[in-house]
Amino acid sequence: MTFAIVEEDRPLRAVVAGAGFIGRQWAPELLAHPGVELAGWVDVVAGRAREAARELGLDDLPAGTSLAGILEGEEPDFVVNCTVPQAHHEVTVTALRRGAAVLSEKPMAVTLEEARSMVRAAEESRRLFAVSQNRRHMRGLVAFRRTVGELGPLGLMTSEFFMPYRGAAFLSTLEHPLLQDMAIHLFDAARAVSGADPVAVYCESFRPAWTWYPGACSATAIFEMTGGLRYTFTGSWSAPGLPTSWTGSWRAAGTRGTARWDGEGDPVAEPAKGEVVRAYKREDDPHPERPRRYTGLAEGLAEFVTGLRTGRAPQGECHDNIRSLAMVTAALESARTGVRVPVTI
Ligand SMILES: NC(=O)c1ccc[n+]([C@@H]2O[C@H](COP(=O)([O-])OP(=O)(O)OC[C@H]3O[C@@H](n4cnc5c(N)ncnc54)[C@H](O)[C@@H]3O)[C@@H](O)[C@H]2O)c1
Repeated sequence: MTFAIVEEDRPLRAVVAGAGFIGRQWAPELLAHPGVELAGWVDVVAGRAREAARELGLDDLPAGTSLAGILEGEEPDFVVNCTVPQAHHEVTVTALRRGAAVLSEKPMAVTLEEARSMVRAAEESRRLFAVSQNRRHMRGLVAFRRTVGELGPLGLMTSEFFMPYRGAAFLSTLEHPLLQDMAIHLFDAARAVSGADPVAVYCESFRPAWTWYPGACSATAIFEMTGGLRYTFTGSWSAPGLPTSWTGSWRAAGTRGTARWDGEGDPVAEPAKGEVVRAYKREDDPHPERPRRYTGLAEGLAEFVTGLRTGRAPQGECHDNIRSLAMVTAALESARTGVRVPVTI
């Protein structure tokens, strides 16, 4: 899709929507980007955006509760949507219809219907709308993706995610907390690493006897992907020991060999008999001076800004990212109905 670019020679003006955990990670990234100016901050909770701005020493930053008001007053080039998933549709569509591009936190939306209407709003307004999947920019994942690229046509890929997690209260309110909250990170990573898109899925989502979650905190899903690849995901928020990393534990097998990645360090690879495959190492951190920054936001912002300047779609552009959301919604449908479900967008 072609979208409007910004040609004027001035910094891009950005507004942050949402001043919770991730909004407070995004604002410093916007301040750190030399081509971006933070133009405002909104949160539906009165005083929250103002307080977050003050914590960064931004006493004069326009801040309030009304997105429409700040869009009209500040005319930003783009909005960074850091609100809760239930508000993603309203915030994104409001911004797009008023001519602002949108860089949104994952997941794009709660339902596929909402996501489709957001993609339509981007098309109608001719504005760039992309979703930040920050793990795509992890140096380990980039190295694994390059290594998997050495394996030739893929047949199997697996990822396991096991975490004994009690941190976020909202997870206990969800019917399928693993699929509804976490799985998109691994499903999107599977698409990024394999280059394949989902075709169909069979999924079971359930509650092991020992879990502390009221909902189905564990799941196994088998995806058929384009090219005949089978991708399986198994995970639990109630791991009784031996946790994986936050990006899981991975294996990919292709005609030329096998690669494994622990979700953090350098991947390893072994060639099939008579083949040669290279295992790539992680590249050096481009920002060693900022060790505490949140993984992948700076890289995602850089791609988005380049997109707004050149018309080149960033990773996570909505027409692409909706396929990752569709993996989640189809897996949920399969878990609820007990049948294999085609993945449609
Ligand atoms: N990429 C990652 O690693 C990562 C990590 C954490 C959160 N997230 C995502 O970021 C989003 C926010 O998560 P969080 O942990 O910051 O949540 P949070 O609850 O800490 O913050 C969300 C904020 O949005 C505000 N809000 C709700 N509706 C709004 C609206 N209509 N307009 C303006 N503000 C509104 C809330 O008042 C709250 O302050 C979620 O989609 C979550 O999945 C991503």
